[in-house]
Amino acid sequence: MSQTDLVTGAYGYSGTYLRRRLETAGHTVRTLTDHPPADADIEVFPFAFDEEGALEAAFDGVTTFYNTYWTRYEPSGTSHLQAVTNSAKLLRAAARAGVERVVHLSITNPDAGSFYAYYRGKAEVEDLVTAGGMSYAIVRPGVIFGGDDILLNNIAWLLRQFYVFAIPGDGCYRLRPVYVEDLADLCVGLGESRTDTVVDAVGPESFAFKDLVAAIADAVGTVFRPVHLPPAVVSMALRGLSLLTRDVVLTRDEIDGLMAELIMVEGEATCPTALTDYLRDNSDRIGREYRSELARRKPSPAPAFT
Ligand SMILES: NC(=O)c1ccc[n+]([C@@H]2O[C@H](COP(=O)([O-])OP(=O)(O)OC[C@H]3O[C@@H](n4cnc5c(N)ncnc54)[C@H](OP(=O)(O)O)[C@@H]3O)[C@@H](O)[C@H]2O)c1
Repeated sequence: MSQTDLVTGAYGYSGTYLRRRLETAGHTVRTLTDHPPADADIEVFPFAFDEEGALEAAFDGVTTFYNTYWTRYEPSGTSHLQAVTNSAKLLRAAARAGVERVVHLSITNPDAGSFYAYYRGKAEVEDLVTAGGMSYAIVRPGVIFGGDDILLNNIAWLLRQFYVFAIPGDGCYRLRPVYVEDLADLCVGLGESRTDTVVDAVGPESFAFKDLVAAIADAVGTVFRPVHLPPAVVSMALRGLSLLTRDVVLTRDEIDGLMAELIMVEGEATCPTALTDYLRDNSDRIGREYRSELARRKPSPAPAFT
């Protein structure tokens, strides 16, 4: 009988790649999600955070739990505080059901003392993982690119749509992107081990933000005309753009976190794909359409649960 693993959001962004990798490796995949597609061909359980027994049942017979669960920002319906509480319930249910290993997706630079609720919450959940009684791998990605990513795609979309591009501040703050397929490979590899570990998931390149935008502009064939503005002004402009896109394009916290280099870490690459190679190979495709976080969070019409 094949090993059964549970991936949260197995039809979501990173979850899709985790599911495919695990299926290719011959594992049976099960998911917890509130957004199953109508044609889901794996066992699907809802995020029943108010029924811990039901959550535990979802983990019955599971060997490894790949945890992608988190919230980007409160306008999407879940606060970071709520996401910490819900993560605690997931981890408790998994441990009670006898899950052996958790591979937990976190982020670069989580910090219990951070000014930002996102990074504080991520640190709290990491503590829950390490104290949860299961063997664990904590994986900390920088910004993830590839497939249906939001951030880099929407930078390309903005470059295609507008004559100028607003850069908060000097744009010299750095970030370290990681390719979603590499991230899935790293996670699935770590799922096989039983050693407790914490690893940054980062690609071989880091960029100053302004150079990243310039590289994307170059790839999609637009002229990069930067306008350097104070972050508060960029935030206000993005609020206007959010009305147009019916999304929250980027929060003030996300702008400040980017400028504080919270999605940057030094050190050896743990994932091989260079963003510049990806941009070269996908220049026709990226930024053709805006990708909305809030649209993704809309309830599925008729969720098909197992
Ligand atoms: N994307 C990035 O660039 C990036 C960068 C660094 C770290 N990370 C971390 O990597 C992990 C996976 O990220 P991802 O982009 O692949 O996430 P995702 O697919 O958008 O969502 C992952 C899971 O979280 C649930 N979820 C997301 N937003 C939610 C909300 N507002 N309310 C309730 N549930 C919500 C989803 O539920 P459904 O299954 O119902 O959709 C899904 O199960 C997260 O822990 C994230 O913090 C991501």
